[in-house]
Order: sequence, then C-alpha cells, then structure tokens
Amino acid sequence: MPTATSDERFIHPTADVSPRARLGRGVRVWNQVQVREDAELGAECSVGKDSYIDAGVRVGARCKIQNGVYLYHGVTVEDGVFLGPRVTTTNDLRPRAITADGSLRGAADWTVTPTRIRRGAAIGAGAIVLCGVTIGEFAMVAAGAVVTRDVPDYGLVRGNPARLCGAVCACGEPLRDAQLRGAQAGCPACGAVTTLPPAVVAVLQSAAAGAGS
Ligand SMILES: CC(C)(COP(=O)(O)OP(=O)(O)OC[C@H]1O[C@@H](n2cnc3c(N)ncnc32)[C@H](O)[C@@H]1OP(=O)(O)O)[C@@H](O)C(=O)NCCC(=O)NCCS
Ligand SMILES: [Zn+2]
Repeated sequence: MPTATSDERFIHPTADVSPRARLGRGVRVWNQVQVREDAELGAECSVGKDSYIDAGVRVGARCKIQNGVYLYHGVTVEDGVFLGPRVTTTNDLRPRAITADGSLRGAADWTVTPTRIRRGAAIGAGAIVLCGVTIGEFAMVAAGAVVTRDVPDYGLVRGNPARLCGAVCACGEPLRDAQLRGAQAGCPACGAVTTLPPAVVAVLQSAAAGAGS
C-alpha cells in the first residue's frame, strides 16, 4: 500500500511499467496496469487496476484514471482529467486486421487519428471515445455515452451518439438557464461564474424553452 507522501511514486508489483515510460512525482499505478514505452504520466496521477496506457500516450498531472481504462496511441489527456471505470478510447476510425488481399496489416498500415481530452474534463463509466474528437475543458460525458463529436468546454453530453444536453460547473454541478446572464452562469453550489461557449448557452436556452412550452 502507498503510505508515502504525495511526492513518492507507488507502482504495484504486478504492474508492467516500461523503463522507457516517464512517471511524475507521486504517481500511483495499481494492480495489473500496463504502461508502455514513451508514455508519460504527470505528477500525482493515479491509474486503476487493469488499465492500459499505450506507447507515447501523454497524461497530464493530477488525473484520476479508474479501473480498466484503455488509452491508445494518439490520445492526449491534459491535467486534472477524471476517467471512469472502463472508459475506452480508439485511434483508428476504420480499422482492419488485413489488407484487401488478405495479408496482415502492420503498424505502418494503421492510421492514427489524434484525440484530446482537455483539462478538468470527466468521462463517466463505460463511455467510448471515438478518435478525432476533442473533449473540452471541464466538460462531462455521461456514463455509457459514445462520443462521436467534439464536446464544448463545460458541456454535458450523454447517449449514443452522445448529444449535448446541458452544462456543468468546474465543481461538477449542473448549470441551468436560470443561472445565465448572457454567456455567464453563476454556480448555485460553489458560486463560481463561468463563461460558457455559445453552443452550451444555446442548449440551456432551448431546454428551458422546451420545459416552458
Ligand atoms: C450524466 C449525469 C452526470 C447526469 O446526472 P443528473 O444531472 O443528476 O441527471 P438526472 O439523474 O437528473 O437525469 C436527467 C436525465 O438524464 C438521463 N440520464 C442520466 N444519466 C444518463 C446517462 N448516463 N446516459 C443517458 N441518460 C442519462 C436520465 O434518465 C434523465 O432522463 P429523463 O429526464 O428522460 O428521465 C450522470 O447520470 C452520469 O452519468 N454521471 C457519471 C457517473 C459515473 O460514471 N461516474 C464514474 C465514477 S464511479
Ligand atoms: Zn460550481
């Protein structure tokens, strides 16, 4: 068990961490995790049991990665991101094992499309993130969603395909139309005032108009 100060790293004896991976101070890596070569885990990240961090993946500081999360080559995770249990990312939009003539495809045949999960975002359990998307700062993805498009900063998306359905404060509480002053919303829980992107303002306004009709 890690009893240490937050500066000390903890790597469970069953984890497989490449000597070429770079781990910041205070990183915690739990049972049966694999961290591949040239992957980077920022300071104070924790990586839960059974997770897989592919070659070259960069994870920022203070991220919480729950059990069974798969981060594939081409994915970048910025600081302070929460990834719920069994979050799965992808890196090839149109995968094939073989070429048209039946021969095995190699690494050179793999088309990697980058994905970015921005600072403070949270992704619920079992969500799937298709490659090529950017999930915005402090955005939230509902459990079980399939993210096929970009998610704006502070946006809440849910469903398959995931659709923008609301807004969240950096503290995680929902923001609603009643809290809007122009593009700014004051959080009833923590008092923070957040400037929301136009698409998020629009979804709050249309939800309120729908509720009133
Ligand atoms: C999306 C989420 C944040 C919404 O929470 P909320 O604002 O309290 O939502 P409510 O329970 O009021 O539900 C609002 C509507 O969204 C629906 N909904 C809630 N979660 C949903 C989900 N994950 N996917 C699809 N729809 C969902 C509800 O059924 C409800 O629909 P209805 O009005 O037609 O009945 C939350 O449900 C969620 O998925 N959180 C992630 C939890 C998680 O994975 N944590 C990981 C750590 S263990
Ligand atoms: Zn708040």
